[in-house]
Amino acid sequence: MKHILPLLSLALLIWFPAKGWAQHTLKEAFADDFLVGAAIDYGELRDTSAVLHELIRNEFSAIVCENSMKADHTEPREGIFNFSGGDAVVDYAERNGQVVTGHCLVWHSQCPSWMFGPDSTGRPVDREMLIRRMRNHIYGVCGHYRGKVKGWDVVNEAIESDGSWRKSEYYRILGDEFIALAFQFAHEADPDAELYYNDYGMESPRKREAVVRLIRNLKARGLSIDAVGMQSHLSLWTNLDEYERSIEAFAAEGVKVMATELDVSVLPWPGSVNPELVEGQNADISTNFEYHERYNPYRDGLPDDVLAQQADFYRHLFAIYRRHADVITRVTFWGVHDGTSWLNNFPIRGRTNYPLLFDRNLQRKPFVDEIIRDAAAPSQQ
Ligand code: XIL
Repeated sequence: MKHILPLLSLALLIWFPAKGWAQHTLKEAFADDFLVGAAIDYGELRDTSAVLHELIRNEFSAIVCENSMKADHTEPREGIFNFSGGDAVVDYAERNGQVVTGHCLVWHSQCPSWMFGPDSTGRPVDREMLIRRMRNHIYGVCGHYRGKVKGWDVVNEAIESDGSWRKSEYYRILGDEFIALAFQFAHEADPDAELYYNDYGMESPRKREAVVRLIRNLKARGLSIDAVGMQSHLSLWTNLDEYERSIEAFAAEGVKVMATELDVSVLPWPGSVNPELVEGQNADISTNFEYHERYNPYRDGLPDDVLAQQADFYRHLFAIYRRHADVITRVTFWGVHDGTSWLNNFPIRGRTNYPLLFDRNLQRKPFVDEIIRDAAAPSQQ
């Protein structure tokens, strides 16, 4: 009997913390650090799985629309707005007590073609016409979501990986001034909303420098920018030292930083012989390669060693977020679980990718408990 008590308490000691971490959710674990978000949309809203909705409610404190607040959805024809998708997501998040952010106002992709087309009299678009359309679009969308959305990705992806301006239609017609105009209109339409610049590939040093110039330029014009959104479409081969340098560089400009579209691909980027070079890797949604078996190596399941690599990568990444928790306000995943991630169809359609924290059966990957346990320990500077 006298041996049983110490043994019992030892068993309890081992058992309780182990169970305790599993009971914590992501949003609880990081409640003092930053919001933890997920992109959802009509797919999730239509899904009748109680398990899915419980997961979204319990694990995430922030929500963003994966597609429904983009210009092709909100203003499919000039002056004809459609907020049905976005409103449904906002209602859902409100019922769950989650913070909503808006994505996105000005972007070269998923932008309706009328934006750059001739007007109803056949007059081709010019500077003045485009400014008017941009203003009407931003006023319409920001005005509608005023008070419901905490902040907006005002401009998405205006800079190339080499630091040059993306030669989008906005840029061709207005030059880089379109960015300042977009920030000005967004502020006029909703003075209480936070305003963000959002882009992928932020670990690239030249892109980092260009974003720093962009922040300075906006501030020099008297415009406010609250945060930089690092989309964070990463892969196992992303250089996290460079990524962390970008967080530091943006924070040094006096803005907050957010990971806005986080996922960690485990699949090879097509065309790059050595995946560690991640040549040409990007998140430009117009990129499209032909399917080939060799680019889809884990169709039947993720091997343990790759899962272990992903665990290390995510733990390292969250250690970085925690180190910079004073400037990081939100970490949002681009999707809820691997089964519905956009990366199953980008940049090649029909692959089986594993980029998120929840697997196809809506189960937490085993390393999530480790991330949560790490969150309770003092951060390593
Ligand atoms: C993606 C969505 O996930 C897809 O459903 C859609 O077909 C294309 O766009 N950068 C962004 C996001 O800013 O809006 C993109 O989302 C992914 C890359």
